[in-house]
Amino acid sequence: MGAELGWQKIRWAEERMLTLGSLSSSALESGVLRGVRVGLVLHIEAKTAVLALKLARAGAEVHLAASNPLSTQDDVVEAVRGELAAVYARRGESSEEYSEALRRVLAARPDYIIDDGGDAITLSHREGVSSVKGACEETTTGVIRVRNLERSGLLRYPVIAVNDAYTKHLFDNRFGSGQSVVDGFMRATNILLAGKRVVVVGYGWVGRGVAQRLRGMGARVVVCEVDAVRAIEAYMDGFEVEPLLEAAGNCDAIITATGDVRVVREEHFRVMRDGTILANAGHFNVEVDVDHLEKHSSSKRVVRPNVTEYVYAGRRLYVLGEGRLINLVAADGHPIEVMDMSFSAQFLALRYLVENSSRLQPKLMKLPEELDTLIAKTFLKAHGVRIDELTEEQKHYLESY
Ligand code: ADE
Repeated sequence: MGAELGWQKIRWAEERMLTLGSLSSSALESGVLRGVRVGLVLHIEAKTAVLALKLARAGAEVHLAASNPLSTQDDVVEAVRGELAAVYARRGESSEEYSEALRRVLAARPDYIIDDGGDAITLSHREGVSSVKGACEETTTGVIRVRNLERSGLLRYPVIAVNDAYTKHLFDNRFGSGQSVVDGFMRATNILLAGKRVVVVGYGWVGRGVAQRLRGMGARVVVCEVDAVRAIEAYMDGFEVEPLLEAAGNCDAIITATGDVRVVREEHFRVMRDGTILANAGHFNVEVDVDHLEKHSSSKRVVRPNVTEYVYAGRRLYVLGEGRLINLVAADGHPIEVMDMSFSAQFLALRYLVENSSRLQPKLMKLPEELDTLIAKTFLKAHGVRIDELTEEQKHYLESY
């Protein structure tokens, strides 16, 4: 039953992942991925399965593990288990099981890693896995970590910052998170957003998307920022901008999207109203200081799936999805069309590494612009959207001075 449900979701997604479908067919024909061993460490849901299957059908040997202990969909795992070289994941795995799964992927001595969050890339460096010739990284958090590795002079192979491709972050981080974070929040709580005062912490691409979509649902959105320019952007986008300590005491919910640690912490918990809901959209479960609530609450109970109530300083505070990324814990992650582009970027990045790794330096690099453009053009074509072309005169005009 589990596997059948998994296949239903995979087929539904695959029929809509038109860009990846088109771009992966040429890899299949050319045989460029045949025999290539890939460590795939991603959030395991239906769209991820589509990517894994495309790689496997193109001849790659795929070893799959989760990039978060709580984002795995077990029915999808059951569906793909027999189709890939190995799958090591289950929803709710302990952090030891999570790390062990990464170790097992690396023990297969992958040629390349496709990572989400940087755990596999950093572990391959820590453990000196010499088989790896290159990697592709999905998220802002992962790219920051790889950049730090590079700055420390420790990076040992080329890494493509897939996150930084235009066809990735402009749509995935903004529209993808915008919809999926609100989706996860609503599925977890089933509360009405219209009229609620919701605080979005961080106005990067994710925060922008979440704030916009919450506003679309009728929420009264407050943005908190530490960056002056981003704060101006939020202000001019029409949001209230306040310090978190003020906003926390006067809101129904707080959603973090910063990528940083202990963003919502004791000083904020102390001023919150009874019933305040806390959720996180960032990669790691470090943005809401759940450890503090665990240690200092007078009681804790799960009140519905993905909602834990802490009675803290006499008030009920609700943490969604243990403070882990709510769009994948309580919903299906980003919408299909968005992951179609993101995973097309992953697919082409991997192909680029396979074809070029011998001449690439151990550096963090962007997805080549022509591949970004290819994804955009393929997506538009697949969706029947036509655009204009510059005339020769216009091209010449733009090149003149
Ligand atoms: N589905 C698979 N990977 C995802 C990601 N990084 N964010 C949202 N949804 C996803």
